[in-house]
Amino acid sequence: MAPISNAPPEILQKIFRRCIHSQDARIRPFSPSEAPLLLCSVCTLWRIIAIATPQLWAQLFVSIAEETNKAQPSPQLIEAWIARSGCQPLTLVLQNFGQRSSGADSINKVLEMFLPHLHRWRNVTFILPNHPFPTPLTSLGLPSTSGASQLQIAKLEFRSDTGVHATDAPQVSGLSRLLKSSSQLHTLYWRNDLQFLDVNWVQLTVLDLVPVWRPMSQIIQIMQKAPKLRSLSVFISEACDVVDPLVLLNLAILWIGTEVDINPLFQRLALPSLQNINVFCANLVPSIPQTDVVNCVVRSGSRVQVGIFKSLRIPEADLITFLRSSPSLLLFEISNDGVPTITDDILGLLTAGDTPYLCPNLRIIRFLESSVSATDGLLADMVESRRKATPSNPEASLSRVVVDFSATDLPRHAEDIRRLRDLDDEAAFRAWINQPETA
Ligand SMILES: *[C@@H]1O[C@H](CO)[C@@H](O)[C@H](O)[C@H]1NC(C)=O
Repeated sequence: MAPISNAPPEILQKIFRRCIHSQDARIRPFSPSEAPLLLCSVCTLWRIIAIATPQLWAQLFVSIAEETNKAQPSPQLIEAWIARSGCQPLTLVLQNFGQRSSGADSINKVLEMFLPHLHRWRNVTFILPNHPFPTPLTSLGLPSTSGASQLQIAKLEFRSDTGVHATDAPQVSGLSRLLKSSSQLHTLYWRNDLQFLDVNWVQLTVLDLVPVWRPMSQIIQIMQKAPKLRSLSVFISEACDVVDPLVLLNLAILWIGTEVDINPLFQRLALPSLQNINVFCANLVPSIPQTDVVNCVVRSGSRVQVGIFKSLRIPEADLITFLRSSPSLLLFEISNDGVPTITDDILGLLTAGDTPYLCPNLRIIRFLESSVSATDGLLADMVESRRKATPSNPEASLSRVVVDFSATDLPRHAEDIRRLRDLDDEAAFRAWINQPETA
């Protein structure tokens, strides 16, 4: 076999490119012991070929070191890296999790190196939670800068900054103009409280606006303008009237935190493709049961696999209807600020036996914040029944149970707790009782 160093350059380039594609994002690609820099240090020929292979340089991860506030890699290497990427569409990551905003100079310098290549940005991640909106980005959207015509994914996180809240703040409107003109943009993480937000909605499939509270009216407008959404994550405040029906045909993932009554919204919503729903109420006063959340799932005929409901105070009958309508459920989590929710009836319906039982595919159950009100022993019955393979329960798929009892409930569930602890010794099963769940 000929040594690899004699392989024709095209073959070497192909192999080199593989080194990048198989790369884990957690690896520090600018490390001298990782591709592509490693390839450059093997021999002169490899170095020449690596430098002449633009695909090797199309992804660049820059972080700002916390201690020194310096960019890693160095500005010189960033410059060389981008030059080597030729005409390739770029994946750029710039992050600084440091607590102090003293890295601003380094951040601005890096962004200034990225900006001339705006037309090649494909996937950009700027995670700068302790920095206000960076000055270099204020020049965006001006006639003198190019558009980001290849931009598909943008994840932008900046520190809240009251100075740029106004919708006509020039900084933000520049970025907004840029995003709006990016006709391929399909994924947007907009993690900051800049209110002004305008993109080419029709193309959008993934939108994440957490952790900033936004008025319900804004969320409704987004739902109306973005019919292709597949994943939506929002915090909702300021209730409003919901008049028209809202149908999101493709929405598979919905993640909502709310501090207002969202029943009116869910009464109008239809989500036929929903697979994963996670809704939590924060400090909702008065506490209104958010029954329409589960009713919407039932009415839409969604095949939900993940259902996570925190503090929604769903009444027993509606919860049973939801479980009945969700045979594909794999993960079910509920907590209700200490209000008992999981009754004898619910546990009975979930217990595997000769007759059909609800949600046969459940793998993970979390009854949190003392949500179990059932008779001692019934919880253990239900869990044990789902751990035994029988003709009606061939998979015995339940693999983790997480349950919290209040201090007063603990003695009342002595049998449940003892039997769950025994089960915990079995392979492929774990129970967490009043303990934080681990991986
Ligand atoms: C976009 O870049 C991020 C950060 O490197 C990466 O995790 C993600 O997989 C990329 N997405 C695509 C579709 O390439």
